[in-house]
Amino acid sequence: MSKKVQPWSGRFGQPVAELVKRFTASVGFDRRLARHDLDASLAHARMLAERAIISRKDLAAIERGLARVRREIRAGRMAWSLDAEDVHLNIERRLIALVGDAGKRLHTARSRNDQVATDVRLWLRDEIDAVRRLLAKLERRLVAQASRHAALVMPGFTHLQVAQPVTFGHHLLAYFEMFERDRERLAECRRRVNVLPLGAAALAGTGFRIDRGRVARALGFEGVAANSLDAVSDRDFAIEFCACASLVMVHLSRLAEELVLWASPRFGFVRLPERYCTGSSIMPQKKNPDVPELVRGKSGRVFGSLVALLTLMKAQPLAYNRDNQEDKEPLFDAVDTLKGSLAVFEGLVAGMKPVAAAMRAAVLEGHATATDLADYLVRKGVPFRDAHEIVARVVRAADRAGRDLAALPLATLRRFSRAIGADARRVLTPEGSVASRDHVGGTAPAQVRAAAARARKRLAAGS
Ligand code: ARG
Repeated sequence: MSKKVQPWSGRFGQPVAELVKRFTASVGFDRRLARHDLDASLAHARMLAERAIISRKDLAAIERGLARVRREIRAGRMAWSLDAEDVHLNIERRLIALVGDAGKRLHTARSRNDQVATDVRLWLRDEIDAVRRLLAKLERRLVAQASRHAALVMPGFTHLQVAQPVTFGHHLLAYFEMFERDRERLAECRRRVNVLPLGAAALAGTGFRIDRGRVARALGFEGVAANSLDAVSDRDFAIEFCACASLVMVHLSRLAEELVLWASPRFGFVRLPERYCTGSSIMPQKKNPDVPELVRGKSGRVFGSLVALLTLMKAQPLAYNRDNQEDKEPLFDAVDTLKGSLAVFEGLVAGMKPVAAAMRAAVLEGHATATDLADYLVRKGVPFRDAHEIVARVVRAADRAGRDLAALPLATLRRFSRAIGADARRVLTPEGSVASRDHVGGTAPAQVRAAAARARKRLAAGS
């Protein structure tokens, strides 16, 4: 046999151009799949031996060789080479160097097309598990802060204008809900990731009497891809993951934005832990919220990965096309960015301290209990639209007097409606306002505590 550079060079009369070699190689980044490539090869080889497609002796040699390659890779002693293009051919080449002909039999009944799809799915499955663990950790921190501050009053906003009082705990639990949906979505995404492509070979399946179910079970897949053309060309699973990751980043970016606002002296609602802030090289007084700002910015990278993968797949004819090699870098980057952002947010949320006085002062500045006064009038028999009108006039008067509605004396309030009595005082306080919203999903401290307890249960039950 002639000396070949690539396992496929036999067909060519000329060696591939150096430039093209570099352009087409993916080993620089797909080395990251090495562990999963080895796992998949092992399961494949064992099935081949069980089916007597290769001999027991060959299997033993392959197992020995792959174990050695695994050790070399772990120890950083693997000589990755551009000539061998990608992670798959690098490992195969090393295996052949170690065990000879047995190594050359490993690729029987498979192609790099089903091989790479399998590796990426195995890898992503592990990463989804890691992301879901990070989400649960962040959620626990949110729930802990929410329980601690279940009764702490702050302004709730619409249009970034003070709207109605809420509790800090209630506000934080809104994020718990978002992240809990994300965790659920990722679990559903994982089910679709966890399907075995191997056996599809290049695109049409293989003439060998393979046992795909056996390989699937060995690798922990929940099923086998039902169509070989789809198996090698589908990247929905990567797109779907990036969509889930994008939503997590949307949620993180919303919380990030709030932390940036709240940490600003104009709001002064929270103090961020110093270990999570940075200073300025020129302004000695600065304590900047760079961490939430970066997370806000990094959300763009993850959305970018999603759009990159959608664009990559759009209009691709069946089955495998080399375009698909471009799936890895956006996917890897999305995973890294997401994990980094979640990890850093866990510490940020755990260490942030609300400033009760600033929150309360802001509630008392925005006529936050105007709706409560209108509701009070309704309970006294005034139709809601009239009540709304009456309170609107009270608010204008309060503005003219430069005071909050809740600070107006009873006599002044009664000038607008005789239905207002001394008992209106209680509904005008922020504490009275939040306490009155005492239903499932409401901001009453008792409801927030109950919601936090339910949240803890969901986290404990959720796998
Ligand atoms: N490195 C390739 C990829 O990531 C592996 C599959 C190559 N297949 C092929 N027919 N050239 O997609």
